Amino acid sequence: MNALASAAAGILLSNWRRGYTVPAGGLYPHQWSWDSAFIAIGLRHLSPRRAQQELDTILSSQWSDGRLPQIVFHSGHDDGYSPGVSFWHSSRIPGSPPVETSGLIQPPNHALAALMVHEADPAESERRRFLERAYPRLVRWHEYLRDRRGGTSGLARVVHPWESGMDNSPYWDACLKGMTQTYADDIPRPDLLHADAGHRPSNGEYGKYLYLAARYRDHDCDDADAGFPFQFEDPAFNALWARSELSLAAIAAIVGADPEPHRAEARRIARQLERLWSPEVGCYVARDVRSGDLQPYRTVAGLVPLLLPELPHTAELLELLRGPHFRLGEVAMVPSHDLTAPTFDSARYWRGPSWFNTAWLIAEALYERGFTDEAELLSRNMDDGALEHDFPEYLDPYSSDPRGTRRFSWTAALALDLSQKIGAPR
Ligand code: SER
Repeated sequence: MNALASAAAGILLSNWRRGYTVPAGGLYPHQWSWDSAFIAIGLRHLSPRRAQQELDTILSSQWSDGRLPQIVFHSGHDDGYSPGVSFWHSSRIPGSPPVETSGLIQPPNHALAALMVHEADPAESERRRFLERAYPRLVRWHEYLRDRRGGTSGLARVVHPWESGMDNSPYWDACLKGMTQTYADDIPRPDLLHADAGHRPSNGEYGKYLYLAARYRDHDCDDADAGFPFQFEDPAFNALWARSELSLAAIAAIVGADPEPHRAEARRIARQLERLWSPEVGCYVARDVRSGDLQPYRTVAGLVPLLLPELPHTAELLELLRGPHFRLGEVAMVPSHDLTAPTFDSARYWRGPSWFNTAWLIAEALYERGFTDEAELLSRNMDDGALEHDFPEYLDPYSSDPRGTRRFSWTAALALDLSQKIGAPR
């Protein structure tokens, strides 16, 4: 095993609990939904069986309406995380699973991961009937998105910044600023024990986050609160949904189900995604469902649709990725926000730093589109940043200095995955 693979394996082993992986022992000590899917993509190189288990565990925490929860609190305790079990008390909410969870969701990258995990060792997957178990659960998850989160536009809505996975993206600024309500109680910030305050969302943002989460919880997480103050269609969330429908089509074919409805659904979502194209900024952007306004910011979320075949704006997105706003190949990985924007902050969570999961998504898209040199450059850049800085959560795009926490599971998993692809001796 090369240096990167053995360091990544060490992190994935130490962050493994019984049946799942914590994103980071201190900052995120539970199971997160889209983290688990990204982690499984790396784990499949170490143990296909463990990668299957990772996904089995998140899929078996499904609510009766089909949602996969943002966080699963397997220990049944807060364990120093907020908002945890004592905030959600999910077992009191109708339709919740036996295990305690958050009531929110995260981006749907699970079918994409399940197919990759299967392909790592089809014989072991078939022997353990992994896809037979996963398929109906993934179908119900996607049905939840369509039936409970799909509005008239046909795209899925997120009802909390946490659901986008990109908590403090500038997309949410106007909405959060316009909200008069904030959380009435003290705002616990245990995250600041594990990461620099300058790398995390602000207290003002946390007040709004907790208000929204408490309101959603107090409405039994039923998605029927028409006046809910935060409702957005996010480009990365919806692009991952469409992409996962394509993976679900491939999974359907393997388990003997009809792939065509999944292909049709992927085409439908991709068509609707065009509503999020902003000619003003030349990028896909988020739309505030209540006002109908497109949020005029270039972020990495707006580049994620590159994962979809036959995307009408492919050329513009590639130009954007290579140009002054994201500077592919000149800065560390892919910045989370436009380098030239007044809202850019090189250190603060999703307002500028470069993340490993989004770099992986963009590398995948570049490989698939045949831009192998650029994909390899990005992969090597990711692997070097991961190994050099003990697998950080994110990097400053200019200095490549590590930000957030260290020994972060998806950083290890996805760096490992790409290192297998480029096969670089280290
Ligand atoms: N990203 C959130 C946090 O920082 C949770 O999903 O805790």
